[in-house]
Amino acid sequence: MVDSELIDAAAKARAMAYAPYSKFTVGAAVLTKQGKVFVGCNVENLSLGLTICAERSAVAAAIAQGSKDLAAIAIVTGSKKPAAPCGACRQVLAEFNPTMRVLAATVDGASQRFELSELLPVPTQGILETAKNV
Ligand code: THU
Repeated sequence: MVDSELIDAAAKARAMAYAPYSKFTVGAAVLTKQGKVFVGCNVENLSLGLTICAERSAVAAAIAQGSKDLAAIAIVTGSKKPAAPCGACRQVLAEFNPTMRVLAATVDGASQRFELSELLPVPTQGILETAKNV
C-alpha cells in the first residue's frame, strides 16, 4: 500500500471524530505488515483527561481485530502543519513497533514522514523485558 492510500484512510476516519470540546478532529490509520488497515479517530469526553487520541483508537481497533504487527500509521488533521503523535501515543505505538513509519498529514496535503524511533528514541521497556507473555 502506498503512503497516500493510508493517508486517505485516515482522512475518512477523521470524519467520524467525536471532538465537541476542542473541535480539533483527528483521523488515524494503521497498516499491518500483512497489509491490513485499521482506522481510529479521537473520542473526547466531558472529563477532558479521558479523551482518546485517534492514534490509540486505531491501535485498539487493530488489536481488537487480531492484528498487532504494525508497520505504519498515518494521522490526518485539519491544522496548517501536520501534527505528530503526542508523547502518550508514541509510547503506545512503540509497544507494537518502535521503528514503525509515521506519516503526519493535513487535509490540505502537507505531510511529514518520520520513523517512530526519531520521535521516541528511548521507549520505556523495563516491564516488557520481564513480561512472560509478549
Ligand atoms: N489529538 C489526537 O487525536 N491526536 C494527536 O496527535 C493530537 C491530539 C486529539 C486529542 C483531542 O481530542 C484533540 O486532538 C485536541 O488535542
